[in-house]
Amino acid sequence: MSRTESFRSIKGTFDILPEPSSSDGTVIAGSAAWRFVEQTIAETMDRYGIREIRTPILEPTALIARGVGESTDIVTKEMFAFERGDTQYVLRPEVTAPVMRAYLQHSLDQQRSVQKLYYIGPCFRAERPQKGRYRQFHQFGVEYIGSDGVAADAEVIVLMIDTYRALGLTDCRLRLNTLGDESARPAFRDALVDFLRPHAPKLSETSARRLTENPLRILDTKNADERAILEDAPRLIDFVSGASRDRFERLKDLLGAQGVTFVEDPFLVRGLDYYTETAFELESDLLDGAQNSLAGGGRYDLLALEIGSKTAVPAVGFAAGMERLFLALQGSASALQRDAAPDLYIVVLGEEAERWASVTSRVLRQAGVRVEADLSARSAKAQMREANRLSARQVVVVGENELRSGVARLRDMANAEETDVRLDAEALKAGVASSLFVVNPEATR
Ligand code: HAM
Repeated sequence: MSRTESFRSIKGTFDILPEPSSSDGTVIAGSAAWRFVEQTIAETMDRYGIREIRTPILEPTALIARGVGESTDIVTKEMFAFERGDTQYVLRPEVTAPVMRAYLQHSLDQQRSVQKLYYIGPCFRAERPQKGRYRQFHQFGVEYIGSDGVAADAEVIVLMIDTYRALGLTDCRLRLNTLGDESARPAFRDALVDFLRPHAPKLSETSARRLTENPLRILDTKNADERAILEDAPRLIDFVSGASRDRFERLKDLLGAQGVTFVEDPFLVRGLDYYTETAFELESDLLDGAQNSLAGGGRYDLLALEIGSKTAVPAVGFAAGMERLFLALQGSASALQRDAAPDLYIVVLGEEAERWASVTSRVLRQAGVRVEADLSARSAKAQMREANRLSARQVVVVGENELRSGVARLRDMANAEETDVRLDAEALKAGVASSLFVVNPEATR
């Protein structure tokens, strides 16, 4: 490898920088905006009594293969999987199966009858990168494990909507369907295959493959010709049991009672195999057509059995793409929080001042003041420019004279007013505090 070779992030991944940046034509929000969104999510979860869980990025490949489903796109085409020694690892493509694994491994049912858990973190899928679709992306998600009640389904959906609302996104579309219980699926699958077989020559390559491997996924197609064929296809709702249908009616009633609007979509099947009964997706017109799904989820009462539990564990949840959330936020009027500006910028002139500034800024920072000071012995002019660029609220210039007299000028950058300030941390803190009530339009940049 030549020493002059330079490196770039892998296609479909991106850096989150302090400032917003651009990656393949899409704006990637800055780290302060990410933190703001993550905090808002955490606060919403807190109000619902949902606690955080963090699971490893690396999981056993078999967990995902069995959990998500051997014939899904994720498992057949999109896993970043590798082998070391005799262990098969996968970079998690989603977090539901890992959370259920952790729940079973740590017998979390012993602690609470219903575990309400949330997560925020990276996931990996080897998809073709495009706007809103990445190879390393981030999900936040919620899993309610241990309740088979339809009230849990409703609460998960409502809190998903509330989380977006807390971030200023209200104009979303909820699509809702029931997949029925286990018994409905085989009969429906057979009926769908019988209906589609005569149309096989007209199907796309993907759908033709799915006809044998995973026929239900054909319902998800965005291809207009295939959608036209599907108009007359058998409907899953006609195959589900009376109990499933009643459950679906109750869910719709619970959502309606809370003012949640939704569209029933008999074609919504979701791309993961673990769903039973409720399935839903949240879409936004602020996203491009093919990637317009902000979040998706549903009930997955059989996942635990698939991954080795002796008993079924009822559960329901959703996951949401963080990048798509940011894309929608950028297209909406909602304001994202930016970096906080420094309360005080110390312009440092000379070595003695540098020594004083390093000691004093630490004391001030420990006292909760946001302080920046020059670290590169730049000219006074360059330091003032930097203070302006950072939108510092106050600036103090400290050189030999100020150190000798023990007094300096504290400049309020909003109105250019200057006052004398004693050069000790206590006095500076008080001086800075007195200006915090002045509205500085620059400070919110
Ligand atoms: P999913 O529909 O595969 O469901 O993913 C959920 C969300 O993650 C999508 O709606 C989308 O916003 C985002 N997403 C998925 N793939 C990508 C990608 N390549 N680039 C950017 N964003 C992406 C699940 O993962 C289930 N675990 C959801 C769930 C939780 N079901 C029950 N509990």
